[in-house]
Amino acid sequence: MAEITWELFERQVEECRLCPLCRNITRKVPGQGDRQAPLMLIGEGPGQTEDEEGLAFVGAAGQLLTKMLGAIGLPRERVYICNIVKCRPPDNRVPTPEEAEACRIHLRMQTWLVRPKVILLLGSTAAKNLLDPEIRITRERGKWTERKGVWMMPTYHPSALLRDASKKPQAWEDMKSLREKLKELGLYRDLPELWKE
Ligand code: URA
Repeated sequence: MAEITWELFERQVEECRLCPLCRNITRKVPGQGDRQAPLMLIGEGPGQTEDEEGLAFVGAAGQLLTKMLGAIGLPRERVYICNIVKCRPPDNRVPTPEEAEACRIHLRMQTWLVRPKVILLLGSTAAKNLLDPEIRITRERGKWTERKGVWMMPTYHPSALLRDASKKPQAWEDMKSLREKLKELGLYRDLPELWKE
């Protein structure tokens, strides 16, 4: 079996034709950030700006995400950010279960390569695909689940916060809980001085 490397991952995503989403895109959006990060963030799928730039979370939602991370003293470059699907769904619709399943091979490989200790699931698509297909984000956000030594927590997607600011206090609670989890796991030692209190 071929050794799993970042080069293999990148080539596999670039050459992927496993679902129809790649037919209408400008660029693939594999994900980016610190490849040794203890914290991985997983969103839904690229939007227009991400599709144009080939980078995850660089549009309006991404800017809010950068602020949310900054609010707990976490520079965005120190985390790894990616999505459930690597190609933009037309009109930013939610990826179908089949599209998400087809793309799963890439997410698995990338999770294997990063080996995060903590995963923040941004929005219900990420939560449904990685925790429970029936999950209701309004009810389950902020709750931690441990699987094979990896801690996962769903929270609102930043786009949901842009649409409905009344959700922001709960999202802030989740960010504080994320900070506490990182501290509890001793992962603050891996983060820059700035982050330490
Ligand atoms: N929304 C997502 O879920 N992912 C992105 O990369 C951008 C917006």
